[in-house]
Amino acid sequence: MNQLASLLTAMTQDEKVSLLSGEDFWSVGPVTRLGLNRLKVTDGPNGARGSGSLIGGVTSACFPSGIALGASWDTDLVREIGGALAEETKSKGAHMLLAPTVNIHRSVTNGRNFECYSEDPLLSGLLAAAYIDGLQNNGIGATIKHFAGNESEIERTTVSSEIDERTLREIYLLPFEIAVKASKPWGLMTSYNRLNGIFTSDHQWLITTVLRGEWKYDGIVMSDWFGSHSTVESVNAGLDLEMPGPTRDRGQKLLSAVLAGHVSQQTLDDRASAMLNLIVRTGLHQPSLEPNERADDRPEHRALIRRAGAESAVLLKNTGILPLNRERKIAVIGPNARTAQIMGGGSAQLDAHYRISPWDGLVSALGEEHLGYATGCTNHRFEPVLRGPFEIEFFSNDTFSGEPTHVETMMDARAFWIGRIADDKIDALSFSARMKGLYTAELDGEHRVGIYSAGLSKVYLDGQLVSDAWTNWKKGRTFFEEGCDESIGLVQLEAGRQYEVMIEFKTKPYASIGLSGLACGISKPLGDEDIQHAVGVAASADAVVLCVGRNGEWDTEGSDLASIELPGRQNDLIDAISSVNPNTIVVLQTGGPVEMPWIDKVGAVLQAWYPGQEAGNSIADVLIGLREPGGRLPQTFPMRWADNPTHSQDLEIYPGLGGRVRYEEGVFVGYRHYDRHDITPLYPFGFGLGYTTFAVADLEVDDERFERDGVVVVRTTVQNTGNRAGGTVVQLYVGQSHASVSRPPKELKAFRKVTATPNESVALEFNLDPRSFAYFSTAEEKWVVDCGTFTISVGQSSIDLPLSYELTRKSIIEIPLT
Ligand code: BGC
Repeated sequence: MNQLASLLTAMTQDEKVSLLSGEDFWSVGPVTRLGLNRLKVTDGPNGARGSGSLIGGVTSACFPSGIALGASWDTDLVREIGGALAEETKSKGAHMLLAPTVNIHRSVTNGRNFECYSEDPLLSGLLAAAYIDGLQNNGIGATIKHFAGNESEIERTTVSSEIDERTLREIYLLPFEIAVKASKPWGLMTSYNRLNGIFTSDHQWLITTVLRGEWKYDGIVMSDWFGSHSTVESVNAGLDLEMPGPTRDRGQKLLSAVLAGHVSQQTLDDRASAMLNLIVRTGLHQPSLEPNERADDRPEHRALIRRAGAESAVLLKNTGILPLNRERKIAVIGPNARTAQIMGGGSAQLDAHYRISPWDGLVSALGEEHLGYATGCTNHRFEPVLRGPFEIEFFSNDTFSGEPTHVETMMDARAFWIGRIADDKIDALSFSARMKGLYTAELDGEHRVGIYSAGLSKVYLDGQLVSDAWTNWKKGRTFFEEGCDESIGLVQLEAGRQYEVMIEFKTKPYASIGLSGLACGISKPLGDEDIQHAVGVAASADAVVLCVGRNGEWDTEGSDLASIELPGRQNDLIDAISSVNPNTIVVLQTGGPVEMPWIDKVGAVLQAWYPGQEAGNSIADVLIGLREPGGRLPQTFPMRWADNPTHSQDLEIYPGLGGRVRYEEGVFVGYRHYDRHDITPLYPFGFGLGYTTFAVADLEVDDERFERDGVVVVRTTVQNTGNRAGGTVVQLYVGQSHASVSRPPKELKAFRKVTATPNESVALEFNLDPRSFAYFSTAEEKWVVDCGTFTISVGQSSIDLPLSYELTRKSIIEIPLT
């Protein structure tokens, strides 16, 4: 008997069932009798946060977000990052990282696009495979997520994504299929939503037929947090692990279901075996000391993150002002200049070891004496958090009665409570709390005081109620849709005067995800005079680095964007600054595209995403030319939101209506859509400038085997035609004309990131298999390579494809599913 079988045989029914749900928020309990240790998981994906709540806790290395890695188009780099993340995960005493996220950029407004790689399934799948290899080759399990159809944050815990099978197979399941087959992840997380009416955690076809049956997946399947809804259906569908714990639908309920014959003994054993297999893979059956969580700020991680930030930065426009001339006087302006935007919001967030802002990076690169500064305007979604200290008293009732159960100090007016809190004394879902602190106004005038909470809350200043998220509390788009929208109160304050702040909070029943939290902020809004001041600073400089964009309040799990306009008065600021100084370099930090009405007025645009803790250093390295802008767009940047396939008067198409979101555009997502409708994007998929130029040439296609077995070998060269060393991404697309089903004009089928010195030529070879030419036939339930004419095109973006070659086939190839 092998090790797994003998462990299973030795287990009692209770022990088997205990492996199928979390014990607490982040772990599955040990089976001490058999020497099986606790299994611990952690988020994921741009770092390993550890087991605290989303805020505070032991610090971690913060790596570039998913979309930045998508922009790197660099599987080697992503594999290396996976390796570093394995070290980070170990430093948090965990065995699995809840990553990578491979949902597709369907709508430009999806709040979680920053965490996902791309609008293209092949790019997403290959990067995910590299990431998983990096983790697992170093002993840490990956958990690819969220399977499947979670492309929006609106009502994500209940909505049904209505996606036809061909679209699923060709677009939304494909990144999972590629990564599962290439890298065998140890874990996979189902999504919150329903897929065609059925919760994905109950979805037999998805989990058992496709994932395990066709793709031969041999890892565990876990639910998203509070994303499983049944006992019998989920276990029978193939969902091994209900997370988090303590269990809601398993434990005794599952034991009874087995006794009643609703779940067979074989099924229970299969689920327990999957968990045991994971335990063996992660080494948990060996004696281990439970390590404490520690911050492990390593120089090699710092260097890797700094390099990766530059490798993912996409230079969208350059009239020649970049790289910056170091001798000149530079004005650094904008809301993102001195605030380091290093990551998006939600479960991917962590407490980073440190955060380098663009200002910090430019000061180190150029010296402060060459720089001027102005903020110009703000771009926050919520009022900036009130800094403490605050003393907080917790009561184990919801009426602030009796003596507090626990008292502690918080450093700011922001909290995220899960599981048991305050040294285990309080249930995060049932308590009241009172926070007290002081605020000294810096300016005279009207201030905005904001509060939002998952739970009920009120803010008082000097005993006066100023902001109320209690009386008319209504579900909004904060705290994963468990919180209300921000409630704002206006107050006149005097500069230099100290005010007493008191916040009252009490929990309320949760809707889908068991958590509580609040955030309270204050500011005096910036106005015309602040833009004018920035214009003055810009006018007296040789060039301007204008740092604009969004932040993790906008690009976040739990809510989508209402538009892709730059928030606040940032468009006005760019317009005003570029009117007085055409040498304006816009450094954009967002989790996706924005409309750029000012594009013709500025000298350069660098899209820097959320690149991790070294943000400002990576950005400065690119601006001064120490490194190439190595990124290419993993998502089309449309001219306007209205050009996106999901923009529709029909709310069922987006963001969903009556519990349904219809993926009406089918396979025409991203560039497949813009190509089909001949819509010129602002910047196409795959696009990005370097500081040198490249040309592709010498296309050679070996199609000898094409008719027989659908295999084609493509050779080409790429030459550095400029005068400095640099890199590019060579992209290969395939399209079929006159297909028997409606197909995208072209689809990415291979790519390679290359670097070369001036004049150097690099020879490339791409091997295409039949799937590179196939569509999914729902009539045949097979992949089919049609007869007819196919075009292979090669170049450096989806609209810059100077080389092409036509192939024809006379017969059909059918590729079975298994
Ligand atoms: C997210 C997952 C995450 C989990 C645990 C959920 O809200 O959707 O991606 O891993 O929380 O934090």
